[in-house]
Amino acid sequence: MSDLQRLLGYREPIFNAPMAGAAGGALAAAVSQTGGVGMIGVSGSPKKEWIEEQAGYVASLDSPWGVGFMAWSLETDLSPLESFLEFSPSLVSLSFGDVSRGAALAHEAGVLTAMQVGNAAELDRAMEDDIDIIIARGGEGGGHGRNESGTLPLLQLATAQQLKPVVAAGGVGTAHGVAAVLAAGAQAAWVGTRFLSATESLGHENFKAAVRQAGMDDTTYTRAFDIAQQLPWPAEFGGRALRNQFSDSHEDLSSWEASGALRDQMVQARADAQPDMAPVYAGQAVQFVQTAQTAGEVMAELSGFRQILNDTARRFA
Ligand SMILES: Cc1cc2nc3c(=O)[nH]c(=O)nc-3n(C[C@H](O)[C@H](O)[C@H](O)COP(=O)(O)O)c2cc1C
Repeated sequence: MSDLQRLLGYREPIFNAPMAGAAGGALAAAVSQTGGVGMIGVSGSPKKEWIEEQAGYVASLDSPWGVGFMAWSLETDLSPLESFLEFSPSLVSLSFGDVSRGAALAHEAGVLTAMQVGNAAELDRAMEDDIDIIIARGGEGGGHGRNESGTLPLLQLATAQQLKPVVAAGGVGTAHGVAAVLAAGAQAAWVGTRFLSATESLGHENFKAAVRQAGMDDTTYTRAFDIAQQLPWPAEFGGRALRNQFSDSHEDLSSWEASGALRDQMVQARADAQPDMAPVYAGQAVQFVQTAQTAGEVMAELSGFRQILNDTARRFA
């Protein structure tokens, strides 16, 4: 059993990534109940009713669950974190921005903290910060983050330091992927894209279908969607999404070109779930999302890592 497993009490070393717009309470509960750590992803400033509804799925479970925030959105308003802490999560993840106030609040409530890091400098800072668990996240991952390091180099750098427990994120989509990051020293895998089309995921069916049809070469790393929507994402965090008509024709979109009309068009495209125009955030592991599955079925497949590690050890003995 690893240190982190002892701390958090999970059976399977698999966390679903907190994905705003996809990983709500239903997905988190399904992952938790099948032995992993279910994470709820929180976008900007959720309504209290939304928080209560999502927390309702997980609050009474015996298994560990957590909640993930974009740190920059908590800088002006900590109330979403305060509201979630009332439901006693096992873990709070804070990524993309200054994590200090959020981490202090979580620790006051006796809750462990995690942070996603995307390059060596950020890893160094996270080792100093008041953060308990490091999520080494490579640029092949879906959604927002840096695009500066692949998962494996960053993971090797992080685990070699042996200072804090390290979890691997970015591109893990199969049992072989889980086995690979555990062999590289990670204590668990943090899996986003592979859960996107799960029955329990919050995404619209049009977006889930687009994810199932896409392959590994169909993603792009871009800020164009954020610029078009005039979202205040820090510039160092672009996002990996499915390539679509919009991203192909706006590769170089700059802030001064963004207009109210473009923002309205994008908001409408999201509301109408148009995958040609709206962002469908997904990483290279989209290759491995081929059919509509439940989160439990995805977990069962990923849990095949034990057999793979045993076979590998025998092959090279
Ligand atoms: C649709 C989507 C939404 C995401 N939203 C969040 C989020 O709200 N907060 C967060 O910390 N990370 C978010 N992420 C990033 C994930 O935490 C994680 O880094 C990523 O999914 C790992 O790579 P993978 O997609 O290849 O598994 C999101 C990822 C995706 C695909």
